[in-house]
Amino acid sequence: MLAIIGGSGLTQLSNLAIVRREVVRTPYGEPSGALTYGSLCSEPVVFLARHGYGHTIPPHRVNYRANIWALKQAKARGIVSVASVGSIGADFSPGALVVPDQIIDYTWGRESTFFEGGETPVKHVDFTHPYDAGLRRRLLAATAAAGEVAVDGGVYAATQGPRLETAAEIDRFERDGADVVGMTGMPEAVLARELELPYAALNVVVNYAAGRSDSAQGIVFDDIEATLQTAMARVRAILEKICHV
Ligand code: HPA
Repeated sequence: MLAIIGGSGLTQLSNLAIVRREVVRTPYGEPSGALTYGSLCSEPVVFLARHGYGHTIPPHRVNYRANIWALKQAKARGIVSVASVGSIGADFSPGALVVPDQIIDYTWGRESTFFEGGETPVKHVDFTHPYDAGLRRRLLAATAAAGEVAVDGGVYAATQGPRLETAAEIDRFERDGADVVGMTGMPEAVLARELELPYAALNVVVNYAAGRSDSAQGIVFDDIEATLQTAMARVRAILEKICHV
C-alpha cells in the first residue's frame, strides 16, 4: 500500500474513495491527524495531511516522527510526499512540478531521528541518495501519464520556517546548489529512510523565492493561494495515475 502525505493545499484527496479513518498513537506522540484509508485508482492508499486537516500545524511543529512511524505501522510500502516550494533557479516558475533528487537540510531543532541512543544501538543510515529511485520513476511516469511535465531532478533546500527567507539567504542557497526551497522536506525524508520506507517527493512551485521576482510587492500570498489551488487539481490527476505505471 502506498502512503501519500499531503502538504499545503492538499489536506484531502477528493479522488480518494475513503474506507475508514484511524486515529493512531505512536511512541513519539500523535501524528498530524487521523490516517485516511481508501483507494485511489483501485489500489489501497493511506493519506495523511501533514499540517493537520484544518491546516493548523506549522512546518517546525509537525511531528514528523509520529507521522512516519504511523505510516510504517499502517504497512505502507512507500511514501509519496506532496509539498509546495519556492523557486530559486530561473528554470522553475510558479505552477512547475519538480521531482527532486537531492536535499540540503538547513532546518534546526527538529526531532530528526528514531535512533536516539539509550536502549537501542547507534545506527547511521546511508543518505547519499535521499529519495528512492524506483518511487521517483513511478512519480515521473504517473506525471507523464497524466499529460503533465515534471522536472526530473533538482536540489531541495529544507528551511526552518515558518517565515519565508531573506533575499540573501536565497542567494546563499543558490550558491550551495539548491533549486527549490521548502519547509517540510526534512526530517521527513530521513525518517522514512531510517524506517526503510521508500520515499519520493512531488514538489509544486508556488512562488519565486525571496528576491527572485521582479514584482515590487515581494511575495504575494494571494498569488500563492491561487497557484496552489490549480496545481493541486493537477497533482490529484497525477496521483490517480500512479497505480497504472
Ligand atoms: N520558501 C520556503 N518554503 C516555501 C516557499 C518559499 O519561498 N514557497 C513554498 N514553500
